[in-house]
Amino acid sequence: PPIDLQYKRVMLKLSGEALQGGMGFGVDPKVLNAVAREVGTAAKQGVQVAVVVGGGNYFRGASAWDGLERATADYVGMLATCMNALMLQSALEKQGVATRVQTAIEMKEIAEPYIRRRAIRHLEKGRVVIFGAGTGAPFFSTDTAAALRAAELDVNVFMKATKVDGVYDCDPVSNPDAKMHKRLLYSDVMTQNLRVMDETAITLCKENDIPVVVFNLYTPGNIMRALCGDVDVGTTIC
Ligand code: GTP
Repeated sequence: PPIDLQYKRVMLKLSGEALQGGMGFGVDPKVLNAVAREVGTAAKQGVQVAVVVGGGNYFRGASAWDGLERATADYVGMLATCMNALMLQSALEKQGVATRVQTAIEMKEIAEPYIRRRAIRHLEKGRVVIFGAGTGAPFFSTDTAAALRAAELDVNVFMKATKVDGVYDCDPVSNPDAKMHKRLLYSDVMTQNLRVMDETAITLCKENDIPVVVFNLYTPGNIMRALCGDVDVGTTIC
């Protein structure tokens, strides 16, 4: 059924780890294709979708071993996000959705370099734009990259797809009584150490008045509902 579109342009942050599904490493094609179907459905309804993918299914800069420089580890992590970006692109194009990948580190043979005004034109033409290589600089998370692009592209909302339904008052995995928040303030996230996203990312969203919606990527239909503006999905931070 057609849905009332609430947003013109959205940033969807997909964790790399979520793409691995039950596999423990790399990309689970079933998860990837399910994500692509929902993003594709939303895009076909007319929502302009920008996507930032993480790379934690391959490599996580922050958990580099002793002796591996943090900056180097972060660069490896950025390359990991580019692999995810290309696979997501392929899955989306199989759904008949036009896409462009832009990377923050130039790799012109496989993707466009990040050019803000060009990304905006792609979005206006209905192409899903997938951003790889994070911010292109070490010491920033992919959440921060997504928040930065969200601000640059003037999106209406930042959608953070995760493995849980939303933001809880305590860890829902170890506490069966954990309660999910429907709405939170940016300041709640900062002062209560809710670990939704790192402080740089949440600060960027707050300073640019971009609401953040945290929702479960594995619930069928959720991505599509979130992108189209269903307020019942997950936790809204604003
Ligand atoms: P419009 O000008 O709005 O039609 O955008 P467009 O992206 O279709 O135009 P362009 O002719 O720039 O790109 C055609 C194709 O080449 C698209 O699939 C782009 O993603 C791709 N492309 C453009 N620039 C680069 C680049 O620097 N590297 C790579 N690998 N592909 C590129």
